[in-house]
Amino acid sequence: PDDLTPRRRPRPTPEPAEPSEPGEGGAPGASDTFENAPDTDPAVAASRAWAAEIVSRDPAEAGAPRTVPLTTTAQVDEVVARAARLAPGWAGTAPSVRARVLRAAARHLEAARADLVAAMVHEPGKTVAEADPEVSEAVDFAAWYAGSAERLDPAHPEAVPGAVFEPRGVTLVTPPWNFPVSIPAGGVLAALAAGSPVIAKPAHPTPRCFEVVVDAIRAALAECGADPDVVQLVRVADGEGEDAPGRRLVTHPDVERVVLTGSIETARLFASWRPEREVLAETSGKNALVVTPAADPDLAVADIVRSAFGHAGQKCSAASLVILVGAAGDRRTPTGARLRRQLVDAVGSLAVGLPTDPGAVMGPLTEPAEGKLLRALTTLDPGERWLVRPRPLDDDRLWTPGLKEGVAPGSWFHRTECFGPVLGVLTAETLDEAIDLQNAVDFGLTAGIHSLDEDEIDHWLDRVEAGNVYVNRHITGAIVRRQPFGGWKASVVGPGAKAGGPHYVAQLGAWRDALAPD
Ligand code: ALA
Repeated sequence: PDDLTPRRRPRPTPEPAEPSEPGEGGAPGASDTFENAPDTDPAVAASRAWAAEIVSRDPAEAGAPRTVPLTTTAQVDEVVARAARLAPGWAGTAPSVRARVLRAAARHLEAARADLVAAMVHEPGKTVAEADPEVSEAVDFAAWYAGSAERLDPAHPEAVPGAVFEPRGVTLVTPPWNFPVSIPAGGVLAALAAGSPVIAKPAHPTPRCFEVVVDAIRAALAECGADPDVVQLVRVADGEGEDAPGRRLVTHPDVERVVLTGSIETARLFASWRPEREVLAETSGKNALVVTPAADPDLAVADIVRSAFGHAGQKCSAASLVILVGAAGDRRTPTGARLRRQLVDAVGSLAVGLPTDPGAVMGPLTEPAEGKLLRALTTLDPGERWLVRPRPLDDDRLWTPGLKEGVAPGSWFHRTECFGPVLGVLTAETLDEAIDLQNAVDFGLTAGIHSLDEDEIDHWLDRVEAGNVYVNRHITGAIVRRQPFGGWKASVVGPGAKAGGPHYVAQLGAWRDALAPD
């Protein structure tokens, strides 16, 4: 039952390919574009047909054919009151029943795969290659947290002896727009597993993504005989005033817990709105990959590019710094020269486009660049120099990726999360110096090292300060159960058990000693 292997719906059989001229529609001589590559491999052809089918969908047909109206403050009160009325009943369901609902949710989410991918292509602008695994992650959360629910039953063989879990009432789940399916699904499913009714608030750019997730989970509740209103979707407009519906939701006395994934600024705002009351937040990162002279350069470059530019760098887990150690950072050495050349080539040749352009490897920004990101894309600080200069393309959300060297220790770019397709290079004489640079930021979310030297790896693992640490691997795309995800330092608010790990659901309730007298 806890099989976490991503399950895919059968791919549509491709139509026979229209013959086309080599190079047609692409750069001269380019024959590896979506349209023109020879369809000799049936698996590749099938994936391409799937991608073409998804990107051609009308956004209005992606997911449920309705939009959720914005909610007024009075309606927020009604929604919370309904959730609070349902709380005792849901808390009283046996953990095994909640597990059954989650397993049904896994099936419904899988059945909605095409709609979920379509919604991610059309709302945040994810490429199909980024969106499809996100559905698998949502399905994995459902299967994994079903097992977590079962372990809350005192009769379960792995239950904590003598401890009784008590659900804690209504949970508000407020996820980000950059993972608009997996993070919302994980938040809702974990709260359900812990016996809490959920109010689900989508991020502004991605209401349909969360709507399709919530529809799937509500269908699972109904299928298992539970009231679907145990999960309610609420869209609220921007606004921080005392009477703004969003603020009302966060501060409502009957909302026992807020689960936020978002910026550190939002986490601080929510914490100030509800002092002494629970806010669990996974926030920002300023993540670096260290590359030593003992690295495999091919592997390192591939992982750097994937970590920095997947979803145009709009991931809290993304690499925005690479720290080259010793000869790896010295272009006068063969090692340094090769690494630098490969990195520049790889970044400079990334195919950028809207996800409706099937040749695009790096997609658009979800919203036009502004603030910190615009500064990072357009400004160099003293000592910095573009190795690959980012350029805006004709759509105001499309930028080519940027790579700069000479980032100074302690500088603005070293310490500031910019959330977009800009990667900065620092150099260090020694591994210890590199680790100091990696740790010298407020956040501690993800970190990586590329080295084939076991001693270097062990030393780095002893010293690095981050929640998710990766050796000879890209630093994004944590897999449920295998790489539970969560941060240290300013990247986390609250107890901090990791999403997709063994303790996440258990932290969402109160524990009573079964042997204590009443
Ligand atoms: N869980 C997401 C990742 O690992 C944020 O990239």
